[in-house]
Amino acid sequence: MSKRSRDPAINKLREVKAEAESLGIPETIINGLQAVDDLATAREDYCDSKTSTASEPMAALIKDTLEHPWQNVYEEGKTAWNITPRMMSGNLEGYVLKFLVSASKSKNVLEVGMLTGCAALGMAEVMPDDGKVVTCEIDPYLVDLARKLMDRSPHGKKVEILTGPAIESLNGLAKKNQKFDFIFIDADKPGYCDYFNICFSELLAPGGTIAMDNALFGGKPYMEDSPPNEGVTKFNNMIVTRKDIYYVLMPIRDGIMLIRRKEDMNGTV
Ligand SMILES: C[S@@+](CC[C@H](N)C(=O)[O-])C[C@H]1O[C@@H](n2cnc3c(N)ncnc32)[C@H](O)[C@@H]1O
Repeated sequence: MSKRSRDPAINKLREVKAEAESLGIPETIINGLQAVDDLATAREDYCDSKTSTASEPMAALIKDTLEHPWQNVYEEGKTAWNITPRMMSGNLEGYVLKFLVSASKSKNVLEVGMLTGCAALGMAEVMPDDGKVVTCEIDPYLVDLARKLMDRSPHGKKVEILTGPAIESLNGLAKKNQKFDFIFIDADKPGYCDYFNICFSELLAPGGTIAMDNALFGGKPYMEDSPPNEGVTKFNNMIVTRKDIYYVLMPIRDGIMLIRRKEDMNGTV
């Protein structure tokens, strides 16, 4: 069976196909189920192929992240958890972020949850020389690795890493009254509501935009048996009760929710 998809409909389809095979259902039906799976995969691949290619340092960062011996470093106790490169934003989502940062002419960007620096470096690539990406990461192993991977690019110098629990870093930035034009939140999902609240009320510059990654979270938020008060589902349910924002959930990869203050958009759309 192929690796698990982010789309629960495809995973369900694969289960049904496996069951059909075990029941000896006619081959035409099995082939039909496989054709649906292939079409869904082709859609993702097509989007990738119709997206600009990564810069050389970015391509190298992505390759090195994919090939890193994550299992070994975890077993050696170097990382806090067994990291999977699927956590990485990648080239397609990276370009979505680049477009948002570049179209908004953002000069100060904040990221919550860095991994190996894919999104951080990507956003830095489209920012002016005096632009800055501040990114928060809890795992010291990732901080060292990302620093090395990003510093192979001339844009790496625009990225400042804050090591430690994101909530502490965000509180520290708020105390210093720092403001950001664009904020990308992509760390632990139980922290989403807290990260959003402090980012929205303290750190977002006037006219700024927040992007929350994994808003579809593998389909969990819209599955019937999904607990409403956990992680991304809780966050999504909280967002729709707010009267002071506009929001849109874009079904790109695992879902990206964009959020802006109503006062920044009223009369401009
Ligand atoms: C999905 S990955 C981020 C992917 C990254 N934005 C990219 O572009 O590839 C989530 C990251 O958040 C980090 N993280 C998890 N909990 C955290 C916390 N409480 N504070 C800071 N970082 C955290 C993880 O170590 C991991 O590197």
